[in-house]
Amino acid sequence: MANVFARRPVVITRGKGALVWDINGKEYVDCTGSYGVALIGHSHPKVVEAIQKQAERLISCHAGFYNDMRTEFLQKLVSITPKGLNKAFLSNSGAEAVECAIKLARKFSGKPEIIAMMGAFHGKTMGALSATWDKKYREPFQPLVPEFKHVSPDNLEKMREAITSKTAAILVEPIRGEGGIRIPPDGFLQGLREICDEKNILLIFDEVQTGFGRTGKLFACEHWGVIPDVMCLAKPVAGGLPIGVTIAKENVMSSLKVGDHSTTFSGSPLVCAAACATIEVLLKEKLVERAAALGAYFKGQLENLQSKHKIIREVRGLGLMLGVEFRFDVLNIILKAMDKGALILDAGRNVLRFLPPLVIEKEQIDKVVSVLDAVLEEEENERSSDSPAN
Ligand SMILES: Cc1ncc(COP(=O)(O)O)c(C=O)c1O
Repeated sequence: MANVFARRPVVITRGKGALVWDINGKEYVDCTGSYGVALIGHSHPKVVEAIQKQAERLISCHAGFYNDMRTEFLQKLVSITPKGLNKAFLSNSGAEAVECAIKLARKFSGKPEIIAMMGAFHGKTMGALSATWDKKYREPFQPLVPEFKHVSPDNLEKMREAITSKTAAILVEPIRGEGGIRIPPDGFLQGLREICDEKNILLIFDEVQTGFGRTGKLFACEHWGVIPDVMCLAKPVAGGLPIGVTIAKENVMSSLKVGDHSTTFSGSPLVCAAACATIEVLLKEKLVERAAALGAYFKGQLENLQSKHKIIREVRGLGLMLGVEFRFDVLNIILKAMDKGALILDAGRNVLRFLPPLVIEKEQIDKVVSVLDAVLEEEENERSSDSPAN
């Protein structure tokens, strides 16, 4: 496999709920949730059952034909997405969901320019990469797609100044994930909505990481009561199988005509069956409410750690999308926590990111917090013994 992933020295072979096990049978509480994919837990029995049943009936069916399972999924999806977002394109990943949104914005408006945010992450295919901010991802692949620019993510005045007669859309993550779990200032997303309405440009929300209940609302935009014109989803939508969704207002999506966009696997019956089961589980098990309640508990426990360990700079996040910012690189902490049975992600160099399955149990959160407590203690001791005063 190409050497493009920062690999951790562990072979994961099994998962259930918020737990995974390695090849030696060692158990971990998984606060990576496979980068937010395992939202309803690893190998949820309802998803397993749906995949098994559908695999026996029909696995693939090109979107050039109608398919019952695809129709069922689209109906279920539209029943939960914000009002007015009711026409979807199905793909296979978050980056593809963003690619479709970019093409859609250009086709709908007849204009080329996309404004994204400083600090944004939208994926690594060429269009999505052009909207992504971090130069370490961008620079080796220049020239990127033209007519992308980045604006400060908390300044509506700068946004107004950035808009030109060529602007097709503003693309934004309601909460920045990879960019360090950053919540926008009050009024920012509402302000973007107003600007877009006034200037007649599209507002695109990338909810690839925040969507489907992760933040304690079905979609993060609901925290601010703002409905975009286009929304991108991916990671958890099909319970662990690859999927991307670009869902838009009907008049917007209708600007794409036959042949304008496609992908061979669009809405495969197998993936749609898993996605139907995922939505059913999400609603039946009240996982969105659970994310809000357990997220508040988890955040509180992390804040307790912050009072105890001065190396923590800030705790932030909503629901079960949490970040802990340090004053230094967190790789060492991640590796030590893994050793003690807790898998944690980073978000940039100095932020720990927690995207656990929403089915995580309180005791499992307690375990992660006590692992982190012990690791931070060690880290502080090592840092104070390294200090020039000693
Ligand atoms: C907000 C956001 N958009 C897009 C993507 C890209 O998704 P994928 O890795 O499935 O292409 C990610 C991935 O982390 C993401 O967090």
